[in-house]
Amino acid sequence: MEKTRAVITGVGGFVPEYILDNEELSRMVDTTDEWIMTRIGVKERRILTEEGLGTSYMAAKAAQQLLEKTGVNPQEIECVIVTTSTPDYHFPSTASLVIGELGLKNAFAYDLQAACCGFLYAMDTAAALVESGRYKKVMVIGADKMSSMVDYTDRATCPIFGDGAAAVLVEPTTENIGWMDSYLRTDGQGLPYLCMKAGGSVCPPSHFTVDNRMHYLHQEGRTVFKFAVTNMSDVSALIAERNGLDKGNIAWVIPHQANVRIIEAVAHRLELSMDKVMMNIQHFGNTSAATLPLALWENEKLLKKGDNLIFTAFGAGFTWGAAYMKWGYDGSPE
Ligand code: UT7
Repeated sequence: MEKTRAVITGVGGFVPEYILDNEELSRMVDTTDEWIMTRIGVKERRILTEEGLGTSYMAAKAAQQLLEKTGVNPQEIECVIVTTSTPDYHFPSTASLVIGELGLKNAFAYDLQAACCGFLYAMDTAAALVESGRYKKVMVIGADKMSSMVDYTDRATCPIFGDGAAAVLVEPTTENIGWMDSYLRTDGQGLPYLCMKAGGSVCPPSHFTVDNRMHYLHQEGRTVFKFAVTNMSDVSALIAERNGLDKGNIAWVIPHQANVRIIEAVAHRLELSMDKVMMNIQHFGNTSAATLPLALWENEKLLKKGDNLIFTAFGAGFTWGAAYMKWGYDGSPE
């Protein structure tokens, strides 16, 4: 019997209109464009400024575009996985809000939390659902409104992050394309270095937590940086090696967009020039779970059927991983 693989058959994306550039940021905290460009590599980021709008708004916009581009009947979508660290609410899930917004009647939906690694974990999960034969149309959405938890008085973290969302459709194929291999890990050591200290069940919101600014993203940048460089580089090399991939046959590397120096380290390890690396950090910053699908969305026209792609990411937890995908179609269907 032919093997069923899971392949991405379309991409949609959404970023808010408002641009927060380094010039404006330099008026908010003690920083400079030069420092941010040298140490991080972000020039500007998009911010969802409209009051009352959250992650589900961006996720639904991205999903809507995906449905329009692919022409898929929305009522054929069977499952929607939203991966985010910035859900609209603790509960219900952001995915349930997206389903409601899109008017999907024949699908179930849930959120998957793996911080900046969310898209990799969600894709691996969606691929398993499709490969099993039980589901034929699964939507994966990476979406984060990072501005909702960034402390805009903390100059070490606020230049990094931005808001955005992107969605992919995952369908079965018997061709030798799609989600080929993955290597995902979580170690449980990351809490002190990257977290939101309050607001969960350990430390519910109180006057104390608000007064002590405990509802913002807390990051010990240097430690996270070291773990990210090592782990993303190691697992990218591992995935490449065990699939016979090297600089001669890798079309693109799609790394999580946290810091241009981390991305360069991954490229160096794979002996690839930077023109083989998809980047959106300059204009979107770190959009957490959205960085990888947004990179696909922006570069869709460049992709060709059969292209060998390596994804890699690292995030809170710590979570990290890499995956190998053979792209499923030529260019943009638009
Ligand atoms: O997506 C989830 C995973 N997250 C990541 O992968 C992020 C990993 N970490 C990083 O990208 C980097 O560690 C940061 C961008 C967060 C920080 O860069 P760094 O090169 O590690 O800087 P640092 O924290 O070691 O700080 C160096 C200096 C410090 O000054 P002193 O102590 O040397 O006098 C900081 O106070 O830079 C100072 N600094 C700044 N200066 C100007 C920190 N932030 C700024 C700033 N502007 N925005």
